Amino acid sequence: MITFSKIVDTQTFLYQQKTNGLKIGFVPTMGALHEGHLELMRRAKQENDILVASIFVNPIQFNNKEDLKKYPRNLNRDAELLKSVGCDVLFAPDTKEMYPEGQISKSYDFGDIEHVMEGSSRPGHFNGVGVVVSRLFEICIPHNAYFGEKDFQQLAIIKKLVDIENTRVNIVPCAIVREADGLAMSSRNVRLTDHEREIAPFIYQTLKMAKSSKDTLCPKKMKAFVLENFIDKTEFNVEYFEIADDTNLQPVKQWNEEVGSLGFIAVKLGKVRLIDNIRII
Ligand code: PAF
Repeated sequence: MITFSKIVDTQTFLYQQKTNGLKIGFVPTMGALHEGHLELMRRAKQENDILVASIFVNPIQFNNKEDLKKYPRNLNRDAELLKSVGCDVLFAPDTKEMYPEGQISKSYDFGDIEHVMEGSSRPGHFNGVGVVVSRLFEICIPHNAYFGEKDFQQLAIIKKLVDIENTRVNIVPCAIVREADGLAMSSRNVRLTDHEREIAPFIYQTLKMAKSSKDTLCPKKMKAFVLENFIDKTEFNVEYFEIADDTNLQPVKQWNEEVGSLGFIAVKLGKVRLIDNIRII
C-alpha cells in the first residue's frame, strides 16, 4: 500500500493509473475503521482494479467542537487494517493540505434533503460533507465510490452532489454492517461505556419491532410506538424517529408500496449520539 499525504502526489499517481486503463474504487473515511468500513473496502477491491481509501477527519462537518476533539484517531492501526484488505492507496492529508485557505465558503443547495433529520439536528453538517467529498472526488478521480447505508441521508446528499456537480462517479450504496447483537457498526461505538454497549442493541430491536408492525400501524402510530418504547429506558434520549422516503427523505404520511420508505432514528446514549435506520418498504 502506498500512502500519500499530499494532494498533488495522489492526483498524479491516480491520473497515471486511470490513463493506463485501470478502474479506481474509492472509499472515503474519517478513520477509526471498523468492520463496516472493511466491508466497503472488500467490495471496492473486488469491483475495481485499484482500491483507494482516504482518512481525513473533516473539521467542517462537525457542528460540535467537542465531538471533533473526541473523534477517535489512530492512523497506524487504520493503515494496518487497510493493508489487511488489500488497499492499494491511502490518502491521508492534514487539514492544511485540504483547506489551505482556512474555512471553505462553498455553499450547496441540496434542497429538501438537507433540512430534515440529521440536517436540522446538525446545521452545516451536510455542507461540510459535500465540500470534502467533492474535493476528495477531484483528487482521487474514482470510477466507483462506496458509502454505507447507515448514513442513509449522507448517501442521498452525495447522490445529489454528484448530480449538482455533474461528476462522473458511480455512487455505490452498501448495506449496514451490524454487530452480532444487532448494533449498527460505528466509529462512535468505542465511546460507549460497557453498560451502554450492553443496552445499545435495544435501538435496532425497536426498529425491527416497528417494521414488523407495518401492517397494523400507520406511520404516525408507528412513530408513537417507537417513542413510547423508549419512555422507561431513561439512559436513551431519542432525538428523533422519522419515517421518510428513500430519495428525498421527506416524511411518509401513509404507506404506499410504490414509495420506498425507511424508519430513521437518532438516539443519545450517555454522551454518544447514535443513528440507525431500517427499510420498511
Ligand atoms: O461518512 C464519513 O465517514 C464522512 O462523512 C465522509 C463521507 C468520509 C466525509 O468526511
